[in-house]
Amino acid sequence: QSGIEQLVKQVDGLSFDAIAEKYQNCHPEINPFDLYRAHLSNVLGDITGVDTSIIYPNLQWTLSLDKGDMVLAAPSLRIKGKKPDELVQEWVQKFPDNDPLFEKPTAVSYFLSFFVKGVPLIQSVIPMIRSFGPEYGRNKFLGLRDPKDPSSGKKRIIVEFSSPNIAKPFHAGHLRSTIIGGFLANLYDGAGWDVIRINYLGDWGKQYGLLALAFNKYGDEEALRNDPINHLFQLYVRINSEMTAEKETIEKKKADGEDVTALEAHSLDEQAREYFRKMTDRDPGAVAQWKRFRDLSITRYQDTYARLNIHFDEYSGESQVSEAAMDAIGKEMEEKKICKEDKGAQIVNFAELVPGKEGKRLERPIVRKRDGTALYLTRDISELLNRHEKYKFDKMIYVVASAQDLHLKQLFKIIELLGHKEIAGKCTHINFGLVLGMSTRRGTVKFLDDILRDVADKMHETMRKNEDKYKQVENPEAVADTLGISSVMVQDMTGKRINNYTFNMEAMTSFEGDTGPYLQYAHARVSSIKRRAGLTDEEIASADLSLLTETHAVNIVRLLAQYPDTVQNTLKTLEPTTVLTYLFKMTHALSSSYDHLQVVGSERELMKARMALYDAAHIVLGNGMRLLGLSPVNR
Ligand code: ARG
Repeated sequence: QSGIEQLVKQVDGLSFDAIAEKYQNCHPEINPFDLYRAHLSNVLGDITGVDTSIIYPNLQWTLSLDKGDMVLAAPSLRIKGKKPDELVQEWVQKFPDNDPLFEKPTAVSYFLSFFVKGVPLIQSVIPMIRSFGPEYGRNKFLGLRDPKDPSSGKKRIIVEFSSPNIAKPFHAGHLRSTIIGGFLANLYDGAGWDVIRINYLGDWGKQYGLLALAFNKYGDEEALRNDPINHLFQLYVRINSEMTAEKETIEKKKADGEDVTALEAHSLDEQAREYFRKMTDRDPGAVAQWKRFRDLSITRYQDTYARLNIHFDEYSGESQVSEAAMDAIGKEMEEKKICKEDKGAQIVNFAELVPGKEGKRLERPIVRKRDGTALYLTRDISELLNRHEKYKFDKMIYVVASAQDLHLKQLFKIIELLGHKEIAGKCTHINFGLVLGMSTRRGTVKFLDDILRDVADKMHETMRKNEDKYKQVENPEAVADTLGISSVMVQDMTGKRINNYTFNMEAMTSFEGDTGPYLQYAHARVSSIKRRAGLTDEEIASADLSLLTETHAVNIVRLLAQYPDTVQNTLKTLEPTTVLTYLFKMTHALSSSYDHLQVVGSERELMKARMALYDAAHIVLGNGMRLLGLSPVNR
């Protein structure tokens, strides 16, 4: 840390505060690249005559190290009267020959590429990473209400994710929401926001009346306590098929001209409706029974989420939305002419409310059924406003499959039409594509637990193939479980969120290619170096880093220095793949370096220096993996 502070003073004679004052979001004390950008802006300001505040945000990173560490596209500075490629040539000429941080830039058409000098980078970044440890890459300034005032307090974000439906399968959409949502919550937490994690359970509606009927008929107390999720699901399946059969019988009789009035009045469908009515009327018996189903399910979910390093601050759910609140909003919508009657139901006819194509695209959702019951959308409207009231959030993210794009657009638009444009503006839908062919050897998966157990088994099998290494692992079951979870998560986070992908057990559990197991292997390998070298932290800290002259060493440090910037960029993309791609780039650089940068067996001073390098890499790799929600393994 002090290394970088010295560098800041040396380079431009500035202090951290002076730099933070000059540029927006510029914090060299936690992000080495901020110093490089600030310095480069100063140098280029002199050369180009353009204001440094315009240069600073236009210094972009590169996709790979061979393109440099930063690039500047000349046209982005908007200088009139000269051709960008000529300007670029001129600037190269004028660039100082012995800049302390950068080599002389290279010009490619109208781009300038900048390469950092290895020595000052290594000397400042390695000690910085080692002293920050798990904090490296976190940036508490980003979440401040006023970025320049640490006492201004944190901004608050709600991340709503996972949100499975009780008694129904935990499908791919819930899996992806869990993985992506857990990651986004970590990301905002690392950026200094106050993060509230909400699980909005599907736990309300006529089908839960039906489930209660099923339990009263076929329920088993012990099975409910031992395995609530499966037991409720089985009951639900059973009663549903009964109901379907019953409906068919009634239809047939109807077609034969029989009177089915009595049958219909006592049908399961009708009984479920009546039971659900008792629930919405808060009948004590009905509510107590339903609460038990819900509580037992939540307890079970919590265990599974813990395996994924996920916790929730609130288990909300459709059942938690009050009827009174929905009635009040329903009235308000009527008064404001947002909804109107249509065949006894209340609908929102967007075409009449929102001009042009958008209005048509939003369709005409129902907010009250003819029998007076509220719907999924109605509950979401009420819940959103209630959350705003309760948490006064600055931002809220809904992590829900793209199959519900229309639903969330309708929701946000209704909030806006109600006169809460500002609140609607704080809400974002983070969507994602489908998982195709999500089945395991036990057949189509139903629950998160099944998925995790199957991949863990598969992973265990793979591990057993290498008997020698297998013997060295202390607790193979636990490691197999962790690797299995990593497999699923990495496969999910590999592409952009919106892309569909195919659930492929073989591919995701392989140690070859950019997979979860490979990432874990890379982490275990770099952490084994420290074990084998057996140096103390003081010894490593006293290393002479000027011994790290090899290109491999410099390139690893160039990547390590990018980490805080990568995280900051991820706050813009909100794509796990931004972090994952970075981590794979780093593991590739690491794995090609080992032959060139031996630690064990090298002369002592060299060993210390290289150990410092790999220790820093170990820290960054671990931080990145934990940000994604993975549990890095050391063996
Ligand atoms: N339980 C819903 C489902 O499985 C997802 C809930 C999404 N969140 C929301 N606020 N509507 O489809």
